[in-house]
Amino acid sequence: MQKTVTNAKNSTRIRFATSKDIAEVISINFKTLPEHYSNSFFMELLLDSPETFVVAENNNKIVGYIMCRIEYGFSVLKKMSLARKGHVVSFAVLDEYRGEGIGKKLAERAIEGMKIKKCNESYLEVRTDNTPAIKLYENLGFNKIATLNTYYKDGRNAFLMSAKLNRNN
Ligand SMILES: CC(C)(COP(=O)(O)OP(=O)(O)OC[C@H]1O[C@@H](n2cnc3c(N)ncnc32)[C@H](O)[C@@H]1OP(=O)(O)O)[C@@H](O)C(=O)NCCC(=O)NCCS
Repeated sequence: MQKTVTNAKNSTRIRFATSKDIAEVISINFKTLPEHYSNSFFMELLLDSPETFVVAENNNKIVGYIMCRIEYGFSVLKKMSLARKGHVVSFAVLDEYRGEGIGKKLAERAIEGMKIKKCNESYLEVRTDNTPAIKLYENLGFNKIATLNTYYKDGRNAFLMSAKLNRNN
C-alpha cells in the first residue's frame, strides 16, 4: 500500500506532554509497539520527569511521543561507576508521520530534558532488527554496548545502546 505523505515536518510542534495527552500517547503506543504499560505507569513517568516526556502535536493531534525515566545506579558506560541515567522507555511516531524528522526532534528534546535533570548518560533497549530506530540513535551519538538475548517477551534480542551526555552543551 502506498504511504500517505503528510508533509507534517513544519506544522508539527514539539512540546512537553501534559496529563491531557496521556490517552493519545497510550493509543499511539498500542498502534506502534508490542510493549505496553499500565495507564498509571505513563502518568507516573510524566509526574516524575515532565522534562523527558515529549510529544509531537500536529493540527491538535498527538502524532508521536518519547517517554523516559530518570534513574540512578550503575553506569552503562563505565564499569563500577555510578551515574544518573536517562532511560528511553518508549518512543514512537505514527506510521504516516514517519521519515519527516519528527522522531529525531522528539529524541533531541528528551535528551535536553535529561541534561536539565542532570543525567550523565542515556541508555535504551532496541530490537536488533529495528534499523530505523538504531540509525536514529546512532545519529544522536548512541553506541551499541551489548546484545541482550531474549530480552523481549516474544523471545527477540535487544541491543543495549548508550550515549554519554555532555551537560556543558
Ligand atoms: C523510530 C521512529 C520513532 C523514528 O521516527 P521518525 O519520525 O520516522 O524518524 P526521523 O524522520 O526523525 O528520522 C531520523 C533518523 O532516523 C533514521 N531513520 C528513520 N527512518 C528510517 C528508515 N526507514 N530506515 C533507516 N533509517 C531511518 C535516519 O537516520 C533518520 O535520519 P535522516 O533522515 O537524517 O537519515 C519511528 O520509526 C517509529 O515510531 N518506529 C516504530 C516504533 C519504534 O520502533 N520505536 C523505537 C523503539 S526502541
